[in-house]
Amino acid sequence: MDIEKVSFGLLGEKLGHSFSPKIFNAYFRRAGRGCAYGLFPVNPKKIKTFMEGLRSSFIRGLNVTIPYKECMLSFLDEVSVDASRIGAVNVIRCSGAKIDGYNTDFVGFMRVVKPLLNPDTEDLFAVVLGAGGAARAVIYALHKLGVKDILFFGRHLQKRYKILEDFSFIPLLRGEPWMDERMRSGLKKADLVVNATPLGMFPYADGSPLPPEFAVRPGTVAFDLIYNPFDTRFLVTFRRKGAAVENGWRMLVYQAVETLKLWNGGEIDEPLFFQAAEEVRNAAFFNSR
Ligand SMILES: NC(=O)c1ccc[n+]([C@@H]2O[C@H](COP(=O)([O-])OP(=O)(O)OC[C@H]3O[C@@H](n4cnc5c(N)ncnc54)[C@H](OP(=O)(O)O)[C@@H]3O)[C@@H](O)[C@H]2O)c1
Repeated sequence: MDIEKVSFGLLGEKLGHSFSPKIFNAYFRRAGRGCAYGLFPVNPKKIKTFMEGLRSSFIRGLNVTIPYKECMLSFLDEVSVDASRIGAVNVIRCSGAKIDGYNTDFVGFMRVVKPLLNPDTEDLFAVVLGAGGAARAVIYALHKLGVKDILFFGRHLQKRYKILEDFSFIPLLRGEPWMDERMRSGLKKADLVVNATPLGMFPYADGSPLPPEFAVRPGTVAFDLIYNPFDTRFLVTFRRKGAAVENGWRMLVYQAVETLKLWNGGEIDEPLFFQAAEEVRNAAFFNSR
């Protein structure tokens, strides 16, 4: 990649698993844009210095991933209302020395999950596994879609309390500790189960957030935010139990579309972007088999 063309990219700690550069660069090529999307792996000890340097750099926008989505808020000049309510930023836009933050994960998730759910969303019960940045975006999206009864699982008491405090505008939101018995009792009543942890993600595809044995109700939808591998253990387990399943690929693409709109002042050729993403997906997951 011609480094002088890099105007956008992905900021995180370990980035080897990401498909974002392939998708964005395929789109930039097809659209005849003279820019490129690169990877910015940054050690947590150096994130403050990196963010200071960004203000005088050639970078115009970055996606943000693990572990910086939540701490990113403290480095920004302005944060969108949605990102501020979610408490996590996955896109930043640099305009000169000013850096603003946004959340497009929740839009991506909403666009994909909405058609999968019963339209009477008020009656649905959703279980979210995880208590990080993506879990926050999922909880917020479900709230926006009208789902009232939401239960999330997280390992750390403090993180659970913080989510309940930050989302006090969602009256029926509950947080439970990461315990097999509690998870089983949530899973058997759930209409929607979302994996918002990295458990099962490449290169640790053997991982799964699920307890060894559990029951599901008929019509359950299982959504794994992971897209690499395409078929995670989480999804395989639910499919065997008769659930409808969805992986994180389309959410990734939709959030990327929203990201480009932010970087590009709203202008983007959506069909061209979807074609580019499809080409990357087929090359990665199907042609290689
Ligand atoms: N498809 C998409 O467009 C999309 C968008 C965003 C994220 N994602 C995916 O979603 C996943 C989560 O991302 P994130 O940004 O939310 O990451 P994050 O902020 O680091 O949060 C990860 C969550 O998983 C929990 N977790 C990690 N290991 C665990 C374990 N062994 N047992 C129980 N819980 C565990 C963490 O628990 P603690 O809080 O206790 O550490 C945390 O709550 C990643 O796989 C990411 O790639 C996909």
